[in-house]
Amino acid sequence: MSDLDVLDRVTALSTARPPRPRLTPDPLRFKADFDVRPVGMRHNLHEIDLFTTESLRSLSTRYEGHPGDYFVAASAPAPGSEFYSVAHSMSGPVETLDYLDRRPARLLFKRPENHDQRFRSLLDTLFGQIVSMQPHLAGERIVRLESAIFITSAATTTPFHFDPEINFFAQIEGEKTYHVYDPQVLTERELENFYRRNMVNIGQVDLAGRDPAAETVFELRPGLGLHQPQNAPHWVQTGVGRSVSYAFVFETESSRAIGRARSFNHMLRHLGLDPSLPGAAPARDVLKSTAVKFVRPLRSVIKSARHRVSH
Ligand SMILES: [Fe+2]
Repeated sequence: MSDLDVLDRVTALSTARPPRPRLTPDPLRFKADFDVRPVGMRHNLHEIDLFTTESLRSLSTRYEGHPGDYFVAASAPAPGSEFYSVAHSMSGPVETLDYLDRRPARLLFKRPENHDQRFRSLLDTLFGQIVSMQPHLAGERIVRLESAIFITSAATTTPFHFDPEINFFAQIEGEKTYHVYDPQVLTERELENFYRRNMVNIGQVDLAGRDPAAETVFELRPGLGLHQPQNAPHWVQTGVGRSVSYAFVFETESSRAIGRARSFNHMLRHLGLDPSLPGAAPARDVLKSTAVKFVRPLRSVIKSARHRVSH
């Protein structure tokens, strides 16, 4: 336990208030491997009162009638199952929370900061800590910053996929085995195929054949977590009891620009060309990204005009 942990505990005991939320990744590794390789971290989010059973139950009622803000799915039969082939959207948030101790389910609350101001404050506090550890982020335009809560039955599998965002993941209750691969295991073609769609969604890729040397396995329990780089594919399995996890993710304007450059590269490959990889020719990356930024809206205008003409 660090000096800061001891200080937080003493403060909490003397004031009878929960400790200030805090993430503590390994400082040296976090400096060297931020958004390149996964990094383990400690946190104290399991000690704050936002994630108690009563608090989560109350939160679940706020999601009723907001189907775009939660996701319910069954357990995947295997880590390599296709993400959206698993049964999903079968019940509402309150009902799912009631039955997930008895039958396997994964309940995801998206953007709790839009439903309860205390989660907005938690998100701002934690993101501020990351910016203080990675000062270059203060000069970046953050285009998306949001959090999520995962409540999952025992022995339940979330299948292999990647996400187009930088992630900080904290285990709050129960145990989770988190398998994450370095982003470099994905091929440029796989990334281009995802980024050409310009969507905030999961990236569907195959688990088979991935280099085992690029895999890190985190055995998570309350107080432990990890930093997951953008595009790092992963699959997750819960332990013997219910699991509650909290994560927040973000994208920057520069990470979006790399996605647009990949989208452009997809078109070049389609024309039989062999494009330069993102980062190899930064000036060219800017041109590609800018072209896609302007062509996309133009394309949607043309599409909607065609639609109007043909109907
Ligand atoms: Fe994910």
